[in-house]
Amino acid sequence: MQRFKDRVALVTGAAQGIGFAIAERFAAEGAHVVLADVKEEQLVQAEQSLTAAGFSASRRTLDVSRPEQVDEAVAAIVGAHGAIHILANNAGIAWEEPFVDIRDDRWRKMIDVNLNGMFYVAQRVSRHMMGRGQGAIINMASTNGLAGEAKYAHYNASKGAVVLLTKTMAIELGASGIRVNAVCPGYIQTPMSEAIDDPAFVERYIEAHIPLGRVGKPSDISGIFAFLASDDAAFVHGACIVADGGQLA
Ligand SMILES: NC(=O)c1ccc[n+]([C@@H]2O[C@H](COP(=O)([O-])OP(=O)(O)OC[C@H]3O[C@@H](n4cnc5c(N)ncnc54)[C@H](O)[C@@H]3O)[C@@H](O)[C@H]2O)c1
Repeated sequence: MQRFKDRVALVTGAAQGIGFAIAERFAAEGAHVVLADVKEEQLVQAEQSLTAAGFSASRRTLDVSRPEQVDEAVAAIVGAHGAIHILANNAGIAWEEPFVDIRDDRWRKMIDVNLNGMFYVAQRVSRHMMGRGQGAIINMASTNGLAGEAKYAHYNASKGAVVLLTKTMAIELGASGIRVNAVCPGYIQTPMSEAIDDPAFVERYIEAHIPLGRVGKPSDISGIFAFLASDDAAFVHGACIVADGGQLA
Protein backbone atom coordinates (compact mmCIF):
# COMPACT_ATOMS: atom_id res chain seq x y z
CA MET A 1 0.00 0.00 0.00
CA GLN A 2 1.33 3.45 -0.90
CA ARG A 3 -1.28 5.55 0.92
CA PHE A 4 1.21 8.36 1.59
CA LYS A 5 2.83 8.73 -1.81
CA ASP A 6 3.84 12.40 -2.37
CA ARG A 7 3.05 13.27 1.26
CA VAL A 8 5.42 14.66 3.87
CA ALA A 9 5.07 13.39 7.44
CA LEU A 10 6.67 14.93 10.51
CA VAL A 11 7.16 12.48 13.38
CA THR A 12 8.38 13.82 16.74
CA GLY A 13 10.20 11.55 19.16
CA ALA A 14 11.18 9.44 16.16
CA ALA A 15 14.66 8.31 17.25
CA GLN A 16 13.37 5.18 18.99
CA GLY A 17 10.35 3.34 20.35
CA ILE A 18 6.86 3.99 19.02
CA GLY A 19 7.92 7.14 17.14
CA PHE A 20 10.48 5.24 15.09
CA ALA A 21 7.89 2.54 14.30
CA ILE A 22 5.45 5.24 13.13
CA ALA A 23 8.13 6.82 10.93
CA GLU A 24 9.02 3.43 9.45
CA ARG A 25 5.37 2.63 8.71
CA PHE A 26 4.68 6.03 7.08
CA ALA A 27 7.85 5.66 4.98
CA ALA A 28 6.93 2.11 3.96
CA GLU A 29 3.62 3.48 2.69
CA GLY A 30 5.38 6.04 0.49
CA ALA A 31 5.73 9.19 2.63
CA HIS A 32 8.82 11.33 2.92
CA VAL A 33 9.34 11.20 6.68
CA VAL A 34 11.03 13.90 8.73
CA LEU A 35 12.28 12.35 11.96
CA ALA A 36 12.56 14.85 14.82
CA ASP A 37 14.04 14.18 18.25
CA VAL A 38 16.34 15.58 20.94
CA LYS A 39 18.61 12.50 20.77
CA GLU A 40 20.92 13.50 17.96
CA GLU A 41 23.04 10.35 17.67
CA GLN A 42 20.07 8.00 17.71
CA LEU A 43 18.30 10.25 15.23
CA VAL A 44 21.16 9.83 12.76
CA GLN A 45 20.97 6.04 13.17
CA ALA A 46 17.20 6.04 12.77
CA GLU A 47 17.40 8.08 9.57
CA GLN A 48 20.18 5.84 8.22
CA SER A 49 18.23 2.68 8.88
CA LEU A 50 15.24 4.05 6.93
CA THR A 51 17.26 5.31 3.98
CA ALA A 52 19.25 2.03 3.90
CA ALA A 53 15.91 0.24 3.53
CA GLY A 54 15.21 2.39 0.46
CA PHE A 55 12.78 4.76 2.16
CA SER A 56 12.66 8.55 1.88
CA ALA A 57 13.64 10.17 5.17
CA SER A 58 15.42 13.16 6.65
CA ARG A 59 16.04 14.33 10.20
CA ARG A 60 15.74 17.40 12.38
CA THR A 61 17.18 17.81 15.86
CA LEU A 62 14.37 19.32 17.89
CA ASP A 63 13.39 19.82 21.51
CA VAL A 64 9.59 20.11 21.30
CA SER A 65 9.46 21.96 24.63
CA ARG A 66 11.36 24.92 23.07
CA PRO A 67 8.86 26.99 21.06
CA GLU A 68 11.57 28.89 19.18
CA GLN A 69 13.06 25.58 17.99
CA VAL A 70 9.61 24.41 16.91
CA ASP A 71 9.08 27.63 14.89
CA GLU A 72 12.42 27.15 13.15
CA ALA A 73 11.86 23.45 12.50
CA VAL A 74 8.40 23.86 10.96
CA ALA A 75 9.60 26.72 8.73
CA ALA A 76 12.67 24.74 7.65
CA ILE A 77 10.71 21.56 6.88
CA VAL A 78 8.09 23.44 4.86
CA GLY A 79 10.91 25.32 3.09
CA ALA A 80 12.73 22.11 2.21
CA HIS A 81 9.78 19.88 1.32
CA GLY A 82 7.00 22.32 0.37
CA ALA A 83 4.46 21.08 2.93
CA ILE A 84 3.72 19.02 6.01
CA HIS A 85 0.71 16.82 5.21
CA ILE A 86 0.84 14.60 8.31
CA LEU A 87 1.96 15.24 11.89
CA ALA A 88 2.56 12.39 14.33
CA ASN A 89 2.92 14.40 17.54
CA ASN A 90 4.52 11.62 19.55
CA ALA A 91 7.48 12.89 21.61
CA GLY A 92 7.05 12.28 25.31
CA ILE A 93 8.74 11.39 28.60
CA ALA A 94 7.66 9.34 31.62
CA TRP A 95 8.89 8.24 34.98
CA GLU A 96 7.20 7.13 38.17
CA GLU A 97 7.22 8.80 41.58
CA PRO A 98 4.64 9.23 44.33
CA PHE A 99 2.41 12.30 44.05
CA VAL A 100 3.55 13.76 47.39
CA ASP A 101 7.23 13.57 46.35
CA ILE A 102 7.00 15.31 42.96
CA ARG A 103 9.22 18.39 43.02
CA ASP A 104 7.99 21.48 41.19
CA ASP A 105 10.80 21.35 38.64
CA ARG A 106 10.02 17.71 37.80
CA TRP A 107 6.31 18.48 37.49
CA ARG A 108 7.16 21.35 35.12
CA LYS A 109 9.50 19.16 33.05
CA MET A 110 6.78 16.55 32.46
CA ILE A 111 4.19 19.15 31.50
CA ASP A 112 6.71 21.07 29.39
CA VAL A 113 7.47 18.12 27.12
CA ASN A 114 4.25 16.08 27.16
CA LEU A 115 1.73 18.92 27.03
CA ASN A 116 3.42 22.22 26.13
CA GLY A 117 5.63 20.54 23.52
CA MET A 118 2.64 18.85 21.97
CA PHE A 119 0.83 22.21 21.86
CA TYR A 120 3.75 24.09 20.26
CA VAL A 121 4.20 21.54 17.48
CA ALA A 122 0.47 21.04 16.86
CA GLN A 123 -0.23 24.77 16.72
CA ARG A 124 2.66 25.66 14.41
CA VAL A 125 1.92 22.79 12.05
CA SER A 126 -1.82 23.61 12.13
CA ARG A 127 -1.13 27.19 11.08
CA HIS A 128 0.77 25.84 8.08
CA MET A 129 -1.93 23.26 7.27
CA MET A 130 -4.69 25.90 7.46
CA GLY A 131 -3.00 27.73 4.61
CA ARG A 132 -3.22 24.56 2.52
CA GLY A 133 -6.74 23.62 3.64
CA GLN A 134 -5.82 20.04 4.50
CA GLY A 135 -3.82 17.88 6.88
CA ALA A 136 -3.93 15.11 9.43
CA ILE A 137 -2.65 15.44 12.99
CA ILE A 138 -2.35 12.54 15.41
CA ASN A 139 -1.48 13.33 19.01
CA MET A 140 0.03 10.68 21.26
CA ALA A 141 -2.03 10.35 24.43
CA SER A 142 -2.23 7.21 26.60
CA THR A 143 -4.64 5.07 28.58
CA ASN A 144 -3.10 7.13 31.41
CA GLY A 145 -4.98 10.07 29.91
CA LEU A 146 -8.27 8.22 30.41
CA ALA A 147 -7.77 6.52 33.79
CA GLY A 148 -5.39 7.26 36.64
CA GLU A 149 -2.43 5.13 37.70
CA ALA A 150 -0.54 5.48 40.98
CA LYS A 151 2.88 7.18 40.82
CA TYR A 152 2.15 8.90 37.52
CA ALA A 153 0.22 12.04 38.60
CA HIS A 154 2.27 14.37 36.37
CA TYR A 155 2.25 11.96 33.42
CA ASN A 156 -1.48 11.21 33.80
CA ALA A 157 -2.27 14.93 34.00
CA SER A 158 -0.25 15.65 30.86
CA LYS A 159 -1.90 12.85 28.86
CA GLY A 160 -5.42 13.69 30.09
CA ALA A 161 -4.80 17.22 28.84
CA VAL A 162 -3.64 15.88 25.46
CA VAL A 163 -7.00 14.09 25.04
CA LEU A 164 -8.95 17.33 25.52
CA LEU A 165 -6.43 19.36 23.51
CA THR A 166 -7.09 16.91 20.67
CA LYS A 167 -10.87 17.19 20.92
CA THR A 168 -10.75 20.99 21.02
CA MET A 169 -8.38 21.12 18.05
CA ALA A 170 -10.80 18.86 16.17
CA ILE A 171 -13.72 21.20 16.88
CA GLU A 172 -11.76 24.29 15.77
CA LEU A 173 -9.78 22.89 12.84
CA GLY A 174 -12.32 20.65 11.09
CA ALA A 175 -13.63 23.53 9.00
CA SER A 176 -10.07 24.10 7.71
CA GLY A 177 -9.82 20.53 6.42
CA ILE A 178 -7.50 19.38 9.18
CA ARG A 179 -8.39 16.09 10.84
CA VAL A 180 -7.16 15.71 14.41
CA ASN A 181 -7.21 12.51 16.45
CA ALA A 182 -5.40 10.94 19.39
CA VAL A 183 -4.11 7.45 20.12
CA CYS A 184 -4.25 6.04 23.65
CA PRO A 185 -1.91 3.06 23.96
CA GLY A 186 -1.78 0.86 27.00
CA TYR A 187 1.46 -0.84 28.03
CA ILE A 188 3.89 -0.91 25.07
CA GLN A 189 7.39 -2.39 25.31
CA THR A 190 9.83 0.38 24.34
CA PRO A 191 13.03 1.93 25.72
CA MET A 192 10.73 4.14 27.84
CA SER A 193 8.91 1.28 29.56
CA GLU A 194 12.08 -0.83 29.80
CA ALA A 195 13.77 2.01 31.71
CA ILE A 196 10.95 2.02 34.28
CA ASP A 197 9.93 -1.62 34.83
CA ASP A 198 11.91 -4.87 35.19
CA PRO A 199 10.74 -8.08 33.42
CA ALA A 200 9.30 -9.61 36.62
CA PHE A 201 7.10 -6.53 37.12
CA VAL A 202 5.94 -6.74 33.50
CA GLU A 203 4.91 -10.41 33.94
CA ARG A 204 2.87 -9.57 37.04
CA TYR A 205 1.35 -6.56 35.29
CA ILE A 206 0.22 -8.63 32.32
CA GLU A 207 -1.41 -11.21 34.55
CA ALA A 208 -3.20 -8.62 36.66
CA HIS A 209 -4.28 -6.13 33.99
CA ILE A 210 -4.12 -7.22 30.34
CA PRO A 211 -6.80 -9.63 29.05
CA LEU A 212 -4.90 -10.33 25.80
CA GLY A 213 -2.04 -11.72 27.90
CA ARG A 214 0.81 -9.66 26.52
CA VAL A 215 2.15 -6.12 26.40
CA GLY A 216 2.05 -4.19 23.14
CA LYS A 217 4.75 -3.72 20.51
CA PRO A 218 5.47 -0.41 18.74
CA SER A 219 4.00 -1.97 15.57
CA ASP A 220 0.67 -2.41 17.42
CA ILE A 221 0.49 1.39 17.52
CA SER A 222 2.15 2.50 14.28
CA GLY A 223 -0.61 0.92 12.17
CA ILE A 224 -3.22 2.99 14.02
CA PHE A 225 -1.26 6.16 13.29
CA ALA A 226 -1.10 5.14 9.63
CA PHE A 227 -4.85 4.51 9.53
CA LEU A 228 -5.62 7.87 11.16
CA ALA A 229 -3.21 9.69 8.83
CA SER A 230 -4.72 8.08 5.74
CA ASP A 231 -7.80 8.80 3.66
CA ASP A 232 -9.26 5.56 5.06
CA ALA A 233 -9.98 7.65 8.17
CA ALA A 234 -11.54 10.55 6.22
CA PHE A 235 -14.52 10.74 8.63
CA VAL A 236 -12.61 9.96 11.85
CA HIS A 237 -12.13 13.24 13.70
CA GLY A 238 -11.73 14.12 17.38
CA ALA A 239 -11.43 10.44 18.29
CA CYS A 240 -9.15 8.83 20.84
CA ILE A 241 -8.36 5.30 19.73
CA VAL A 242 -7.47 2.96 22.59
CA ALA A 243 -5.04 0.08 21.96
CA ASP A 244 -4.36 -1.63 25.27
CA GLY A 245 -4.95 -5.37 24.95
CA GLY A 246 -8.27 -4.91 26.74
CA GLN A 247 -6.88 -3.31 29.89
CA LEU A 248 -9.51 -0.57 30.16
CA ALA A 249 -12.30 -3.01 29.38
N1 LIG B 1 5.58 2.88 26.05
C1 LIG B 1 4.36 2.94 26.54
O1 LIG B 1 3.90 2.05 27.27
C2 LIG B 1 3.46 4.11 26.17
C3 LIG B 1 2.09 3.98 26.46
C4 LIG B 1 1.25 5.05 26.14
C5 LIG B 1 1.76 6.19 25.54
N2 LIG B 1 3.09 6.27 25.29
C6 LIG B 1 3.57 7.51 24.67
O2 LIG B 1 4.15 7.21 23.41
C7 LIG B 1 5.15 8.19 23.11
C8 LIG B 1 6.43 7.47 22.73
O3 LIG B 1 6.83 6.70 23.85
P1 LIG B 1 7.90 5.51 23.76
O4 LIG B 1 7.43 4.47 24.68
O5 LIG B 1 8.20 5.19 22.35
O6 LIG B 1 9.13 6.24 24.50
P2 LIG B 1 10.68 6.33 24.13
O7 LIG B 1 11.32 6.98 25.31
O8 LIG B 1 11.17 5.02 23.70
O9 LIG B 1 10.68 7.35 22.91
C9 LIG B 1 10.32 8.70 23.08
C10 LIG B 1 11.16 9.55 22.18
O10 LIG B 1 10.79 10.93 22.42
C11 LIG B 1 11.98 11.68 22.47
N3 LIG B 1 11.82 12.92 23.23
C12 LIG B 1 11.73 13.06 24.57
N4 LIG B 1 11.67 14.34 24.90
C13 LIG B 1 11.72 15.05 23.74
C14 LIG B 1 11.70 16.43 23.44
N5 LIG B 1 11.65 17.37 24.41
N6 LIG B 1 11.74 16.81 22.14
C15 LIG B 1 11.82 15.87 21.16
N7 LIG B 1 11.87 14.56 21.39
C16 LIG B 1 11.81 14.14 22.68
C17 LIG B 1 13.01 10.76 23.12
O11 LIG B 1 14.33 11.20 22.86
C18 LIG B 1 12.67 9.43 22.48
O12 LIG B 1 13.40 9.20 21.30
C19 LIG B 1 5.26 9.08 24.34
O13 LIG B 1 4.49 10.25 24.16
C20 LIG B 1 4.66 8.21 25.44
O14 LIG B 1 4.15 8.98 26.50
C21 LIG B 1 3.95 5.25 25.57
